[in-house]
Amino acid sequence: GSNTSSDKSSAGKGDKQIVMGFSQIGAESEWRTAHTKDIKQAAQDAGIKLIFSDAQQKQENQIKAIRSFIAQGVDIIAFTPIVETGWDTVLKEAKDAKIPVIIVDRDVKLNDDSLYVAKIGTDSVTEGQNAFKWIDEYMKKQNKKPRDGGDKFNIVVLEGTVGSSVAVRRSQGFTEAMKASPDASKYEILASQTGEFTRQKGQEVMESFLKSYGDKIDILFAQNDDMALGAIQAIEAAGLKPGKDITIISIDGVKGIFQAMIEGKSNCTVECNPLQGKLLMETAKKILKGEKVEKNVFVKEGVFPADTAKDTLPSRKY
Ligand code: AHR
Repeated sequence: GSNTSSDKSSAGKGDKQIVMGFSQIGAESEWRTAHTKDIKQAAQDAGIKLIFSDAQQKQENQIKAIRSFIAQGVDIIAFTPIVETGWDTVLKEAKDAKIPVIIVDRDVKLNDDSLYVAKIGTDSVTEGQNAFKWIDEYMKKQNKKPRDGGDKFNIVVLEGTVGSSVAVRRSQGFTEAMKASPDASKYEILASQTGEFTRQKGQEVMESFLKSYGDKIDILFAQNDDMALGAIQAIEAAGLKPGKDITIISIDGVKGIFQAMIEGKSNCTVECNPLQGKLLMETAKKILKGEKVEKNVFVKEGVFPADTAKDTLPSRKY
């Protein structure tokens, strides 16, 4: 029989199979693993051929991957930018090659926003705000008192990857909400340092926070669950009770933190939704058909305090 491309197509009669180049950051967290898995599954479900590239936490590898996608003549490029800046040149190259680009998960800062067609991601500023608002209410409800006998709750922050939109904006949202609170004067950020979104680094940096400020720390804001899980180990090793002596809030909503909350070791997680694959594939198809798509879309996200963990865990998808 004939061997035309339409015979092989799974994207619809008469269409040839769409090829998407996707550059992922790496595998720094439980969340990221879920994100990758979801994108691969969604591509398969949509009949899109995915060329997947893992940048191992290096922007230069992402830029190389995008250049190689351009050289291979893929139909569409998608990527999760590890940091916000430094993308203008390579995205201009994609635009000159007439290959549309979709930004996924994290955000970018460009001089020219026409360099991408759509952005599908999460609302980091709101996540940061929600983290502070939850803490503020919880400390009041629990009638907590500063551990050092002073008049302020001392906060330590484990930040994400330096220069990433998610770290910058979660910090921004958290401090904005703090300043806007009528209780602003009751809080102080003692220390804020990157834990690179990993368990290992989260544990190490928390160890050093505990060495410097042991009996002063009331609250840990970890910008992802993995760093919180690492920090919990450091807190226990220091002879303190995570979730009690130190109130812990983190971001993501992975199963690991739900388990820790059920065990009483963490207090709340603000969801960051990694299930972006389906929307990404739908958006890619629309773009390639010449249909108009929304320029910026945020996926839905919730807030899960520890007392909801037991009932919620069985329905968690990542
Ligand atoms: O970009 C999303 C963030 O990156 C998640 O919060 C974190 O876990 C991941 O590594």
